Amino acid sequence: KVQLEKALPILNHKISSHFAPIVKFEPKILIICGSGLGNLTKKLAAKPHLIIPYNELPGFQTSTVQGHSGELWVGHLKDTPVLIMKGRLHSYEGYDIRDTVYPIRLLNRYSKKYCNGSLNNLLVTNAAGGLNDHFKMGDFMMISDHLNIPGFAGNHPLVGPNWEEDGERFLAVSDAYDFKLRKLFLSTFKSLQNEGLVSNKRAIHEGIYTFVSGPTFESRAEARFLKAAGSDAVGMSTVPEVIVARHCGWKVLALSVITNNVVTSMPQKATESAPDDEEIPLDAGKANHKEVLEIGLHAAEDLENIVENIADSF
Ligand code: 6GU
Repeated sequence: KVQLEKALPILNHKISSHFAPIVKFEPKILIICGSGLGNLTKKLAAKPHLIIPYNELPGFQTSTVQGHSGELWVGHLKDTPVLIMKGRLHSYEGYDIRDTVYPIRLLNRYSKKYCNGSLNNLLVTNAAGGLNDHFKMGDFMMISDHLNIPGFAGNHPLVGPNWEEDGERFLAVSDAYDFKLRKLFLSTFKSLQNEGLVSNKRAIHEGIYTFVSGPTFESRAEARFLKAAGSDAVGMSTVPEVIVARHCGWKVLALSVITNNVVTSMPQKATESAPDDEEIPLDAGKANHKEVLEIGLHAAEDLENIVENIADSF
């Protein structure tokens, strides 16, 4: 909180001195980009925009993962004023989970103090592993509900003194994922696909996202466990940010790009009669960060087009 009080005037000074003083910049949406999904910022480059490296804002931690740079972009998507976080913070980097959501707390306070509370929407993307058998690599999933596994054990972003200025002590998350925004995304996906602006190989789903801490990808047994619990996709982010955005009273649209299918089959038994080499090698279909980034790159272009087209409708 001390850092937040320091960061607020710095942020305000940077933004207000950069944009023309006549029209006040009042951001409507905070967009947080997942692994390899940060090129959305290019859409801001055609108009006046501002890039603030995270390390210029007190309290902001810097992202340490490849594919995640640490920049806050301030600008317009078509005509909508937005903030884009290129690079997000994960708890597996060693940060306290409450520090990973600090940007949302800071930007909510900034919006309340300087922008008439204009910032009321979170659009968050991630790369996720598919558990649902119907999901293919490169498909999109609109998140409609979540499992917060670290949260079960008390590793939860709202643990600690309640931020009274933001929201209540006990927050319901049964309605965390906005229905109208999901419908908006779906209809835009379909119409852009009809126009050939989104690959017609790509399918869109709706489902349950499970947040795990990482940094390991799931073991086979863990993957079966999550699948049995009703999870459609799994990843290492998003849920903490969604919870805090809801705590601030924002609406949320959360999207996963399915970058790989999680291996759920049993490992082959090493019996005496088994051949020396495995029929299905243990590493077949094993998740790796490079693959996650590559699949993300192509899907990202489609996702960027959709996001650009829906921004005005928030
Ligand atoms: Cl397979 N697991 C997790 N936890 N996160 C991922 C992933 C898998 N693929 C992309 N992100």
